[in-house]
Amino acid sequence: MRFTSTILPRLSTKAVFKSKVSTLQRSYSQAYSKDFVKLVEVGPRDGLQNEKTLVPAKVKIELIERLANNGLSVVETTSFVSPKWVPQMGDNKEVLTSIKKKPGVFYPVLTPNMKGLEGAIAAGAEEVALFTAVTESFNLKNTNCSTQESLARAKQVLQKALDQKLRVRGYLSCVLGCPYEGPVNPEKVAEMAKELYDAGCYEISLGDTIGVGTAGSMATMLEHVLKVVPAEAIAVHCHDTYGQALANILKALEYGIRVVDSSVAGLGGCPYAPGAKGNVATEDVVYMLHGMGLKTGVDLNALVETGQWISEQINRPTSSRAGAALMVARKRKLDLEAAAKLESNASKL
Ligand code: HMG
Ligand code: MG
Repeated sequence: MRFTSTILPRLSTKAVFKSKVSTLQRSYSQAYSKDFVKLVEVGPRDGLQNEKTLVPAKVKIELIERLANNGLSVVETTSFVSPKWVPQMGDNKEVLTSIKKKPGVFYPVLTPNMKGLEGAIAAGAEEVALFTAVTESFNLKNTNCSTQESLARAKQVLQKALDQKLRVRGYLSCVLGCPYEGPVNPEKVAEMAKELYDAGCYEISLGDTIGVGTAGSMATMLEHVLKVVPAEAIAVHCHDTYGQALANILKALEYGIRVVDSSVAGLGGCPYAPGAKGNVATEDVVYMLHGMGLKTGVDLNALVETGQWISEQINRPTSSRAGAALMVARKRKLDLEAAAKLESNASKL
């Protein structure tokens, strides 16, 4: 089935967006088109950060290189956070400096503060991602500061990153619910998204950090946000705890969003969001989007192999439904081909 005009922005009013985002930063979201969805692969960072056992740097490096070769144009590589807080990301420098970068692919890294930004720049980062949350409790747990301090810190990092001509993405967590405070006010989400956009982030990723959202709460939240930030500058980042991620992404597509964060094999969670499952699996998102006639640039078969490979490396089954189903279908096809070959050889005897 072809993608049709049924999936179109729902906003009827033409909002006017004033922002300090420079023309250069704005140009980064120009990949925007109605029938192309940019996927931001967050598996190597959001996916692996929650693994209790340290994953060797060489596995992370191979994962990132495979994902870029599978057609993902943005692969979030690591985070320059405190290794005391997230030991799994302690090899950030080694990972970022060792990957063979593919031309045309971006490798953003998370930077919570100036120390993180300096480390990222020294390791050759060209894109950084800032993060803050809608709720006070989550900011305190995740970054040891209040929301106001977190925004001030983010703006300070952002200014220096812009001065260095880096691409700057912003994350806003807990947009559909907080593990400590419960439901959040969509007006507050819109206010903070606008603040990040006005400060100069070229894209704001709206995080359903604990995956509690539904198509209903996603719609309400987007109604508020899209009044103050254009759809071209918005991404959705859906963890799949309640199995609602694909439905929520579909709803976001209806609102004109064309950037989706996802994690190969559905890896991950946030160490400071107890019980949260991984991001929606990239394989599942690609399967859905291609089925709708939307383009992603991703080779689904190759991606499924990468999902299978990383799941074996960390010793757990894939969380991707499409990935698991496609592996079974592939095995069945190979078994049938082998049986047919045996039969044909036997008939020649
Ligand atoms: P703090 O303890 O308040 O920091 O943590 P501090 O400035 O007091 O420093 C404490 C120590 O950490 C010092 O070392 C610093 O040098 C060091 P010491 O003197 O004790 O030896 N330090 C650092 N080391 C390396 N890199 C740094 C750094 N900063 C300080 N950048 C801090 C504040 C923000 C650093 C800490 O809370 C932290 O690292 N938090 C990150 C937590 C995290 O990574 N969470 C997961 C990512 S966010 C997420 O997953 C959500 C997302 O996916 C979207 C969604 O799903 O909603 C993005
Ligand atoms: Mg996340």
